[in-house]
Amino acid sequence: MAHRLNGKNAIITGAANGIGRASALLFASEGANLVLADVNETGLLQVEKEIQSKGGKVIIRKTDVSSEEEIKALINLALEKFINIDILINNAGISGGLYALEDQESEEWHKVYDVNVMGPVYAIKHIIAHMKSRRQGSIINIASVAGIMSGAGGNAYSASKAALINFTKTSACEVGAYNVRINAICPGLIETGMTQPFFEWARSSGKENQLGKYCELKRAASPEEVAWAILFLASDESSYMTGQAIPVDGGITASMSIPGRKI
Ligand SMILES: NC(=O)c1ccc[n+]([C@@H]2O[C@H](COP(=O)([O-])OP(=O)(O)OC[C@H]3O[C@@H](n4cnc5c(N)ncnc54)[C@H](O)[C@@H]3O)[C@@H](O)[C@H]2O)c1
Repeated sequence: MAHRLNGKNAIITGAANGIGRASALLFASEGANLVLADVNETGLLQVEKEIQSKGGKVIIRKTDVSSEEEIKALINLALEKFINIDILINNAGISGGLYALEDQESEEWHKVYDVNVMGPVYAIKHIIAHMKSRRQGSIINIASVAGIMSGAGGNAYSASKAALINFTKTSACEVGAYNVRINAICPGLIETGMTQPFFEWARSSGKENQLGKYCELKRAASPEEVAWAILFLASDESSYMTGQAIPVDGGITASMSIPGRKI
């Protein structure tokens, strides 16, 4: 069977866990060579081992995406090892806390923006000349339904994901003429490290059947279900798509979800 990413080289940030890890494993199974980055080196080593045990080609690099210097070093390493980079997945993200408006500290806002917005900005800034010169590249930013509607995260998190969606569109329009595509995926409720405390709380208090109940599919999703959509945007199958923010959310952004108005 033909692999959808045969011969392609991809960088994935936040690859030690959750959606990034699921994407790394799926991309490897589809033939991609990988450069994986995360602040969690132990998690990266485990993903590396798993991919190598199946014959995949992978390099890992401990990287804090909020540091422009570390992102530059990551991209230099990727180009040094693989010569060309076809795909960049800006996936690393943090949720920040849930605070009342009057309690929101500027440090918290900066922390969330540094990872969720500046991480992708730095990575795109330092890879884009390479992709433009080859007239080839697909970049996927992992945003969130929280960047589209209220109710799925704190103010700083939601605003950071809205910023990332807008940056996806403005940057896509700047580089479209060079055949470089930039899209975003907006996940709904996915069981990952980020949401683990919420899932554990629901299970331990007998509320498991309520997880994801506000979306149309009435359930939460696995990281793999998001990875499939990321794969599509990374592959040539999406060759005419750019500047889009695609929800993978069980239909939650399609509905007003008014309690009592639904069957
Ligand atoms: N889980 C959900 O329900 C959900 C919903 C919408 C969007 N998202 C987004 O999906 C992306 C992946 O998150 P996840 O849900 O898989 O969570 P996760 O916590 O399982 O994975 C996130 C990974 O990013 C890494 N990371 C955090 N800060 C970093 C930094 N500064 N530099 C490098 N790596 C860093 C973490 O170590 C972790 O391995 C995030 O951008 C998140 O906002 C998640």
